[in-house]
Amino acid sequence: MAGVEVPAVNAVVEKSAPRKVVVGVAGGIAAYKACHLIRDFKEAGDDVWVVPTESALKFVGQATFEALSGNPVSTTVFDAVDEVRHVKIGQTADLVVVAPATADFMARVASGRGDDLLSATLLVATCPVVLAPAMHTEMWMNPATQANVATLRARGITVLEPAHGRLTGKDTGPGRLPEPSQIAALARTRAAGYPLERTLEGKKVLISAGGTQEAIDPVRYVGNRSSGKQGYALAEIAAHKGAQVTIVAGATEHLETPSGAFVHKVVSAREMREAMLEHAADADVIIMAAAVADFRPENPAASKLKKGHAQESLSTIHMVENPDILRELVQARISGGVKESATIIGFAAETGDDEHSVLDFAKQKVVKKGCDLLMCNDVSGGKVFGQSVNEGFLVSATGEVFTVTAGSKTEVAAQIIEAIESHRVTR
Ligand SMILES: Cc1cc2nc3c(=O)[nH]c(=O)nc-3n(C[C@H](O)[C@H](O)[C@H](O)COP(=O)(O)O)c2cc1C
Repeated sequence: MAGVEVPAVNAVVEKSAPRKVVVGVAGGIAAYKACHLIRDFKEAGDDVWVVPTESALKFVGQATFEALSGNPVSTTVFDAVDEVRHVKIGQTADLVVVAPATADFMARVASGRGDDLLSATLLVATCPVVLAPAMHTEMWMNPATQANVATLRARGITVLEPAHGRLTGKDTGPGRLPEPSQIAALARTRAAGYPLERTLEGKKVLISAGGTQEAIDPVRYVGNRSSGKQGYALAEIAAHKGAQVTIVAGATEHLETPSGAFVHKVVSAREMREAMLEHAADADVIIMAAAVADFRPENPAASKLKKGHAQESLSTIHMVENPDILRELVQARISGGVKESATIIGFAAETGDDEHSVLDFAKQKVVKKGCDLLMCNDVSGGKVFGQSVNEGFLVSATGEVFTVTAGSKTEVAAQIIEAIESHRVTR
């Protein structure tokens, strides 16, 4: 936006793709998913080095890892000794991601062992290290595992929360490996300079995401192009910072549920309003990232409009205004339905006009809505909706403006969550 001097929320986002990525693979049933992770990094242009444990090679063969990464693979510190790989791989890495990380592997790292190439690499690495644990729920909940995870986190290693879902066999629970695309997005965000520390532990974060659909008849609706990706990315970051996250989701594009988050599905704006007010009561942070339809057909037809008849009916659809959920949440904070200490954040998808910039509209809107922060996207020319990248401005109720620098929606989410956290500290 020309002529606007605004400080960046976080200036460290310079590149999304680190140069050298070490993908560690430990011996769990989810080792096959590491193949998709390797491919994800390769497709982003990274130089990928796969370091499996001996056990990992019982699940996926060395040839697969070598073919996918294009680099030699070994498990022991005694291969290619002249290259001193046990030191060199870790020293030269820009990012180390271990997926899956077994309970046993995390125990070894927590106790400082270096008896195979992967644990030796972690002893040496000074770059960001991300572990994605996967195991049965009992192994994950075991006090020994939890103590090891706490030790690793305290040392600055990012240990992702496992997903909740189907495990080996028929049982379900926390312990599943998050999807490779989710691991890659979080690892890149970590590598871009966001620490993803557990600063939201004990906090409840409520996020609306996706577009609402307003029925014309049982099969047709008025909708919008929102994919829900930004809302889900915010949920992903908040959950990995330790928050208890609820997503109220409208239409979303088959998005993976972030690890540990609870999803309440809704269709229309009125359903979203109800769900948001219900979950908002004990929330500490409320983010309205959904694209809520401003209007809805007043009287949707009870049965499908037939072709000839439809033309007549569609030309006379009467639209009425939907509830303003953001404003109602702000009102509820005044009347006691939402905690007084809660921070409320709105989203505005704007296009400028001949006289006003997108920022002008955002400044007016944050005052009109009464929220604490407004994230403003310029959506002219099809930008943002459905895309994987985003950028914009955060405008505070007191008129401060911060740029949210361009990056993946996960990196943008990390900037927004950081801004919310510092807003909560300073207000
Ligand atoms: C079929 C099978 C599946 C396993 N899946 C897991 C798993 O998902 N997570 C885990 O922590 N251990 C799992 N284990 C146990 C590990 O393979 C075992 O602890 C091994 O010593 C780990 O070695 P590593 O940490 O060096 O890779 C599994 C074992 C078998 C036989």
